[in-house]
Amino acid sequence: MLNGFISSNQKCSDVLKLLVILLIFVVILYIGGGCSQNKPTTTTTSDFGVFTFGQLAIEGENIHSNCLKCHSLGWVDSSLKATLADYQNARLLLSKIATMPIDSKLDQYQVLSYILIEQGWVSEDGIFDVDTLEEIMLNNTQ
Ligand code: HEC
Repeated sequence: MLNGFISSNQKCSDVLKLLVILLIFVVILYIGGGCSQNKPTTTTTSDFGVFTFGQLAIEGENIHSNCLKCHSLGWVDSSLKATLADYQNARLLLSKIATMPIDSKLDQYQVLSYILIEQGWVSEDGIFDVDTLEEIMLNNTQ
């Protein structure tokens, strides 16, 4: 009789332990899920991830070859620096590029990055941020 009572009591506390562990697990999952949901909005404002101009320019060079069909000189030739500089800043130049036959927003960012690097307006290791493009001035010096 007594033995039976003790063992059923132990079973009960085992179930309790399991429930507490389960509860802690659920709480960790809940907090963890909440944090990872907040991450993208707190670490970056861009909608496609964090890249340097140099990283985007790699594919940008390929996309730029499509521009040559209509603009035989392309846009990295130094003789075209003045024409590009008329757009004053990188945001306005992006708006112009967006009116050209080009597939996606990402393609626009990539070809813009390539042109900006080749014309000497940004450094390869600068972070591309679509929200601060107007701060990149297209000076026609040198
Ligand atoms: C199908 C032909 C065609 C292709 C391909 C093309 N463009 Fe154009 N682009 C034009 C024409 C036509 C104009 C002049 C009319 C205008 O400004 O919209 C122009 C104008 C421009 C201008 C403005 C030049 C100025 O004098 O202000 C820029 C910058 C430009 N293109 C960039 C590009 C880039 C970068 C690409 C490649 C992603 C590209 N274009 C691909 C036809 C094209």
